[in-house]
Amino acid sequence: MTKLGKSIELKRGATLKNRAVMAPMTNMMSFFDGTVTKDEIEYYALRSGEVGAVITAAANVQEIGKGWDGEIGVFDDRHIEGLAKLSAAIKKSGTKSILQIFHGGRMTHSSILKGKQPVSASAIKAERPDAEEPRALTEAEVLEVIEDFKSAAVRAVKAGFDGIEIHGANTYLIQQFFSPHSNRREDQWGGSLEKRYSFIDRLVNEIIEVVEKETSEPFIIGYRFSPEEYENPGIRFEDTLYLVDKLADKELDYLHVSIGNYKQVSRSESYQDKSMIEYINDKINGRVPLISVGDIRTSADAEEALQNSEMVALGRVLLADPHWVSKVLNGREDIVRESVSVEERDALRLNTGVWGFMEAMMPDRIK
Ligand SMILES: Cc1cc2nc3c(=O)[nH]c(=O)nc-3n(C[C@H](O)[C@H](O)[C@H](O)COP(=O)(O)O)c2cc1C
Repeated sequence: MTKLGKSIELKRGATLKNRAVMAPMTNMMSFFDGTVTKDEIEYYALRSGEVGAVITAAANVQEIGKGWDGEIGVFDDRHIEGLAKLSAAIKKSGTKSILQIFHGGRMTHSSILKGKQPVSASAIKAERPDAEEPRALTEAEVLEVIEDFKSAAVRAVKAGFDGIEIHGANTYLIQQFFSPHSNRREDQWGGSLEKRYSFIDRLVNEIIEVVEKETSEPFIIGYRFSPEEYENPGIRFEDTLYLVDKLADKELDYLHVSIGNYKQVSRSESYQDKSMIEYINDKINGRVPLISVGDIRTSADAEEALQNSEMVALGRVLLADPHWVSKVLNGREDIVRESVSVEERDALRLNTGVWGFMEAMMPDRIK
């Protein structure tokens, strides 16, 4: 059997039936207030059953953390009912359901926040067009953010999810605390690398603690991170190896890198001998399973990525072909759908939001 088809036991005891997971992908299908829609449930149901786990689109833990319209909300108990339907739809034929929890921080806009100013570690604008200057969170508010992540984790348990992924990647608030670009604080949460890491340290510890109080089941807790930033100052690959080293010793089920191509090499001159995933895997040294990702299109790509990781996340291939995994595992890769026509959109449950992303980010896969 290929490695992709083999089951895997995660660190805290849950087992995935194979090593393919659906990558978290924002689909902009939720209602204006964050409630999950029927369309969204159908979109996920179609892509569940074959993969070992589905990681949902990012769900915001605080209203002020909303990054875009159509985002899943997990900031209020009223979301639990819809989330329960979503997790039930995903948990088909043994697929594990994992809710990605996040806070957008400065990567949002007052137009999304009904006129409110975005917040971040410090009052530093992101380097992107139309970025607004965020307001620095007060010390009391930093603790509130941690509490709200914990409440979101508890809601995920109550909604019947098998786990959560803490979204520490893609420049959102958790990453903003780790980055020397967005974190210029002079209190306990900023300054040295160790201090910039202290928000993540406390957040992860407290989430694990609250989940263990809430359930005795092996509830999955994963952590996603981006390995480097372009900004100067910014997170460098060496900082990420420090982060990985710290997180690998925690009771996390897996670490999940966020990267555009699984073969990508670091921008740092000191790390040119191997791909970033190889360096990360070496640093982990068997302490926690790693999920690799990034333009994995074929079974050969997946097997190659699995030489340096325990699982692979599949994003865009599952938008185009929800049955990629069963086709590949059953030796029918020849019939994988690589591109989608406008006529196939409805059958594939690719609504306006996700179709817009596809037009922008994967035009080669639209017929
Ligand atoms: C439409 C779309 C939405 C995405 N939304 C998220 C998200 O909500 N959270 C996240 O961590 N990554 C998100 N990503 C990144 C993916 O998880 C993944 O890392 C990326 O697509 C590379 O994998 P792929 O080449 O298999 O698509 C998104 C990617 C796409 C294409």
